[in-house]
Amino acid sequence: MITTRIISTGACVPEQVITNDDLSKIVDTSDEWITQRTGIKRRHISAGENTSYFAINTARQVLERAEVSAEDVDLIIVASVTADYGTPSLACMVQKEIGAVNAVAFDVNAACSGFMFALSIADKYIKTGMYENAIVIGAETLSKIVDWKDRSTCVLFGDGSGGAYVEKSEDEGILKEELGAKGELWDILTQGYVGCSNAFNEEPLEKDNLWYVNMDGRAVFKFATKAVTKSIERVMESAGVKPEEIKYVVPHQANARIVDIISRKLGISNEKCYRNMAEYGNTSSASIPIVLNELNEKGLIERGDKLLLTGFGGGMTWGTMLISW
Ligand code: ACO
Repeated sequence: MITTRIISTGACVPEQVITNDDLSKIVDTSDEWITQRTGIKRRHISAGENTSYFAINTARQVLERAEVSAEDVDLIIVASVTADYGTPSLACMVQKEIGAVNAVAFDVNAACSGFMFALSIADKYIKTGMYENAIVIGAETLSKIVDWKDRSTCVLFGDGSGGAYVEKSEDEGILKEELGAKGELWDILTQGYVGCSNAFNEEPLEKDNLWYVNMDGRAVFKFATKAVTKSIERVMESAGVKPEEIKYVVPHQANARIVDIISRKLGISNEKCYRNMAEYGNTSSASIPIVLNELNEKGLIERGDKLLLTGFGGGMTWGTMLISW
């Protein structure tokens, strides 16, 4: 049986660290409020580096760790909502910088679920035999799309990138998955409205300020706890896997309280539901691969361990994958 297996992981985050106390100097907030409501203590914020910088460094790292040369890469997929440009894609910029001259390269956008969608797409290309390997990356510079005067959103996000090099394998790899979308809720989380102003039409003024992240936090919270739990339950059931067989749940790092609820509802212990939002905040599509890389670098996972990756985000979208590490 052919599967897709993660061979190596990598990550790149800005060096500049902004603490909750730093934020309390620019908006009316406090370390106590942010810690209690979100579990976030610090976040790494760009000092001028754009998203391609993080994506390129992550790609270099995963290739080096996999000991694969750039010319042998078949496919590069980058998930992001904060690319440097509308076009070209980040993936094409990565391709050029690492010299992956034979690769196909494109971006996907499923907001914070982006890495799950990108990994799923890579998996299909590999399983159908079209390509044998891929670099899959989630990369974001969310600091450029949050309103730093809005305390309800600016405290939540961080910048950075994580990724993996994946390959066709006859060992176990991606075992089960589910992707989902609930477009009827699209307006609870939006960013970057681009109007239709042109020489013959002027966009109404009220849409002028829709560049920044705009979110109904409570509605997102409700969606996340419901959709993610149900999705994990379905994936575990269809795989015939019990909670005690899972080594780690690798959840999107939006909010520690969301992870607590998921852990309780599923009966999977808190220690197994890994979290590092205290250090990085919510890095959207980068959060799941940053966690994977941390687990890998710390030696907390071994080949054969079962991991449940699960993300949710704007759209609203979600994606869950059971993998054998
Ligand atoms: N500091 C201090 N007070 C604040 C802050 C802040 N940074 N932000 C909001 N408040 C205030 C509000 O103004 C409000 O005050 P009021 O009662 O006087 O009106 C009070 O705190 C409560 O605000 P709520 O928005 O109701 O707070 P809540 O407990 O819902 O927490 C939060 C907000 C953290 C955003 C929560 O709703 C949440 O985590 N939602 C999930 C959304 C999420 O994770 N989004 C991440 C991005 S989306 C994604 O990753 C898919």
